[in-house]
Amino acid sequence: MTIIILLLLAYIIGSIPSGLWVGKLFYNIDIREHGSGNLGGTNTFRTLGKKAGLVVTIMDILKGTAATLLGLLPFFASANVHPLILGIIAVIGHIYPVFAGFKGGKAVATSGGILLGYNWPIFVILVLGFFIILKITKMVSLTSMCLAIIAIIYSIVYYFTVEKDWPLIVIVSLLAIFILYRHRANIERIKNGTEPKVKWI
Ligand code: G3P
Repeated sequence: MTIIILLLLAYIIGSIPSGLWVGKLFYNIDIREHGSGNLGGTNTFRTLGKKAGLVVTIMDILKGTAATLLGLLPFFASANVHPLILGIIAVIGHIYPVFAGFKGGKAVATSGGILLGYNWPIFVILVLGFFIILKITKMVSLTSMCLAIIAIIYSIVYYFTVEKDWPLIVIVSLLAIFILYRHRANIERIKNGTEPKVKWI
């Protein structure tokens, strides 16, 4: 029973549609009807500006972190679920949120949050990588997909140099598949040269 509550809680945390709720509560705007239509930090930046974009991005990151750390709560200790399993369930909640008609975001920030909770150095590397790659590409979507690949490379290097953490390789690879799959429309736009570029970097 504890294990079911734990898994359900991870999904519910991931399901919190930060972009939708912040947009509706504070701006009376449904960001799904604007920009890319995505319920994520990037589209919040685009539609509602820097402050809202930052809040939503941080909330989406923390959803992944919170789910990953849930198992540490004394009540859930007996369930013995791997933190990365809880994290990936939160990402599934983020992509298919019960609170937003099962149409959510593209998994990037919440996946980053999992890594922050599980192996923070990789999170720091990815944040630095985000700004460097974004500076070059000017496209958040392309940058996000590059980071997914960098995370796989990191997890493989980590396996051979630090600790044989195969679950990290498996989960990071699954997250990368989710991220690439959710960016299908962006990939088409990148190919056509119509993907929006950011100007602030
Ligand atoms: O994290 C999502 C980002 O990579 C792309 O968002 O709104 O430009 O499709 P968007």
